[in-house]
Amino acid sequence: MTTADTKTPSDIANHALAPDGIKRIEWAAREMPVLKLIRERFVREKPLQGIRMTACLHVTTETANLAITLRDGGADLRVCASNPLSTQDDVAAALVNEYGIPVFAICGEDNETYYRHIHQALEHNPQLTMDDGADVVAVLHKDRRDLLPGVVGGTEETTTGVIRLKSMAADGALGYPIVAINESDTKHLFDNRYGTGQSTIDGIIRATNVLLAGKNFVVAGYGWCGRGVASRARGMGAQVIVTEVDPVKALEAVMDGFRVMPMADAAREGDFFVTLTGDANVIDRAHLETMTYGAIMANSGQFDSEINLKALAGMSEGKRRIRASVEEYKMQDGRKLFLLGEGRLVNLAAAEGHPAAVMDMSFANQALGAEWIAVNHHKLAHEVYELPDEVDKEIARLKLHAMGIRIDYLTDEQKKYLTSWKEGT
Ligand SMILES: NC(=O)c1ccc[n+]([C@@H]2O[C@H](COP(=O)([O-])OP(=O)(O)OC[C@H]3O[C@@H](n4cnc5c(N)ncnc54)[C@H](O)[C@@H]3O)[C@@H](O)[C@H]2O)c1
Repeated sequence: MTTADTKTPSDIANHALAPDGIKRIEWAAREMPVLKLIRERFVREKPLQGIRMTACLHVTTETANLAITLRDGGADLRVCASNPLSTQDDVAAALVNEYGIPVFAICGEDNETYYRHIHQALEHNPQLTMDDGADVVAVLHKDRRDLLPGVVGGTEETTTGVIRLKSMAADGALGYPIVAINESDTKHLFDNRYGTGQSTIDGIIRATNVLLAGKNFVVAGYGWCGRGVASRARGMGAQVIVTEVDPVKALEAVMDGFRVMPMADAAREGDFFVTLTGDANVIDRAHLETMTYGAIMANSGQFDSEINLKALAGMSEGKRRIRASVEEYKMQDGRKLFLLGEGRLVNLAAAEGHPAAVMDMSFANQALGAEWIAVNHHKLAHEVYELPDEVDKEIARLKLHAMGIRIDYLTDEQKKYLTSWKEGT
């Protein structure tokens, strides 16, 4: 069915896009063997049978495969976007028309529509929530407290969301237990590093088609995401400069062979700037004042807070969209500065987000996290939890198996050696 006469509730851009979305969802599924195994078990065991869930995630082909897995596990699922620019409209159409999953998300929606969609995704009174940036948790705790008693648990995908939730828990303000998916090794070591690494460079190249080789490429933040972007930018031949506030991370960047300096100095040198800190105003007014003509800025951190967009607008005479995903700011002193994806996650605004092969592991964690909290919520306090280590190891084992890679196992003798304090030199 490719028309709007489906009975599945939705607010999406265009139902007729469904056939393209179906093909792309199938393409992503090829690279998601771990999620496929989980889906096959969910079909048999229905661990989420009848559980009402609201998932606020980037509506991409990989998310579609997760949504189908949750539906096949028995969940009564509603999906909304976790960013106004990241929705793939053909995927939203396919989810509604082909897979019967309610979606409320339109690429390019304004702020009001974005929040209206979150409210619509909450209308079936969810028992579980799934977030990427904690926006559903925020709406539930601010505007829909009446629904809180019915929510038994949730999951959170990303670093910034986990930080927010931990501070809510510390203040005693969190209304239900949440699993921090980001904390699993099979999530942040791969998704944040290799996923953000590749897709951020992909977004910058698709948006600009500018050669990276020989350019000064400034990476703000040397966390998991920053490490990935810095190493891939170097692989493209760029001269990478790292800015940090954490001395250990800064030292690591130095020993990884990057130049490290404060943003005040980097601002004068950079041709490209990418922020990946989860912080605010990392590129601030003073830096915008000294950037050279033609500098290109992008953010790949969770929120559009990392570049001071207010200062940029105030310092410019005007802006125009010079290419899809590229805005040219004409500064009052005559310089031109360029901003990609309106300062929102450039890998989703200007490209397609992470490749499916890494989202396979992130979303295996999400599916198993939803199952874990559905089973264990009555034993948990209103805190932020990590998934048990066995789950993490099992996901890694399944991924290696799917890749056809075998590893060694500890012998009994080695197990004894590694756990005994009596063995010595
Ligand atoms: N683009 C994506 O698809 C994607 C994927 C995963 C995570 N994220 C987001 O990216 C951001 C970074 O995630 P991460 O996992 O790398 O976090 P992280 O905590 O591992 O790293 C962040 C780094 O930024 C540094 N930092 C903080 N303020 C700074 C400042 N003012 N100047 C320079 N450095 C500063 C911190 O010291 C830290 O080393 C988060 O907002 C996260 O939610 C985005």
